[in-house]
Amino acid sequence: MSKLFTPFTLKGVTLRNRIAVPPMCQYMADDGMPNDWHLAHYTEIAKGGVGLLIVEATAVSPDGRITPGCLGIWNDEQALEHANIVKAIKKAGAVPGLQIAHAGRKASANRPWEGDDHMTEDDPRAWETMAPSAIAFGGGILPKTPREMTLEDIERVKADFVSAAKRALNAGYEWLELHFAHGYLAQSFFSSHSNKRTDEYGGNLKGRSKFLLETMAAVRKVWPAHLPFTMRFGVLEFDGRDEQTLRESIELTNQFREGGLDMMSVSIGFSTPDANIPWGPAFMEPIAKKIKDSTQLPVSSAWGFGKPDLAEQAVQNDALDIVMIGRAHLENPHWTYTAAKALGIEKPALVLPAPYAHWLERYKI
Ligand code: NDP
Ligand code: FNR
Repeated sequence: MSKLFTPFTLKGVTLRNRIAVPPMCQYMADDGMPNDWHLAHYTEIAKGGVGLLIVEATAVSPDGRITPGCLGIWNDEQALEHANIVKAIKKAGAVPGLQIAHAGRKASANRPWEGDDHMTEDDPRAWETMAPSAIAFGGGILPKTPREMTLEDIERVKADFVSAAKRALNAGYEWLELHFAHGYLAQSFFSSHSNKRTDEYGGNLKGRSKFLLETMAAVRKVWPAHLPFTMRFGVLEFDGRDEQTLRESIELTNQFREGGLDMMSVSIGFSTPDANIPWGPAFMEPIAKKIKDSTQLPVSSAWGFGKPDLAEQAVQNDALDIVMIGRAHLENPHWTYTAAKALGIEKPALVLPAPYAHWLERYKI
């Protein structure tokens, strides 16, 4: 019997199944504003039957965008447009989530299909980047050296995360994810590749965790207790130091749990271009299970679960509570229906809205 197709409850929210769409940047916004593209894209995927749909990395401030096309939620006008996306996702029966983010030293870049690289200094769209230390990511395409953040910068970003969370709540989102992964600002505080600070925000694990813990605590105060409060965090880098990084990540995740985190989306650090990532189907599953078993937090993960049997197995193995299916949804927004058929779910079309389901169930040929 399928476990992937059983409901999952976290705090006051129940997902109709354990399939989620992870945040995936669309790079289609101007000035951070959601538009028709976002509304159509998220509505289409929500109609496919997923339990949870987390809207892409959404910047807490203009300088927190990865590219000029990234979404934002730093003003009320943007929040109003987000509210339309939220309504559409809910109408299609999925739970609307939002990932709030600051890109740190990976900000001010071109869209992936326009180079994925830092915009040049003379590009009028470019902006100054900042990070815990004045160290560029590098790797050929992200050469810009960020400004080392002052204590005022740190306070400002924490406040921006808080304002973004309040706006997300007002827009109707029912699931909040802090983007503390993928080499963006929060991850770069945690990683010793990018954090060489000598003040209280750097150095040992306590110092490198301080920005993450403080930001999380500040947001926790404004995000209601009955709605899921989650985080995406890169628990390792595949840089040859993984045993130690994983040990630190587990210690920190336990502190996140004690501070009121409800779930962890287990991901990769992407803090150094010199990583050797063992790409392959479901390769993060054992790592996610280790985080779950060591912290007792519910976990989700992504990366190569796009085959229905792999997603089902991850839940059956008690490795994941929710499975994130990303690129497979770009290929097929009705992935959940396809998976329901593949896994032998009775009346699989019922995962779709009635105007589709009725006909797909009535006439089989
Ligand atoms: P890159 O996209 O530059 O990827 C880093 C390295 O990993 C590259 O060598 C790349 O290979 C390889 N790689 C990335 N994804 C895959 C994959 N799915 N399968 C096989 N190889 C892969 O790094 P970024 O730091 O820009 O992004 C890191 C990851 O996060 C990427 O997987 C990207 O898709 C995803 N992402 C996250 C965003 C966010 O969190 N806001 C936004 C956009 C993407 P190659 O050089 O051959 O391409
Ligand atoms: C991503 N990813 C990503 N991750 C994240 O935390 N926030 C984001 O906004 C994005 N944006 C994004 C855009 C696009 C186009 C892709 C392909 C990826 C990573 C994504 O959530 C997911 O982890 C990966 O796609 C791996 O999962 P799949 O695609 O193997 O199921």
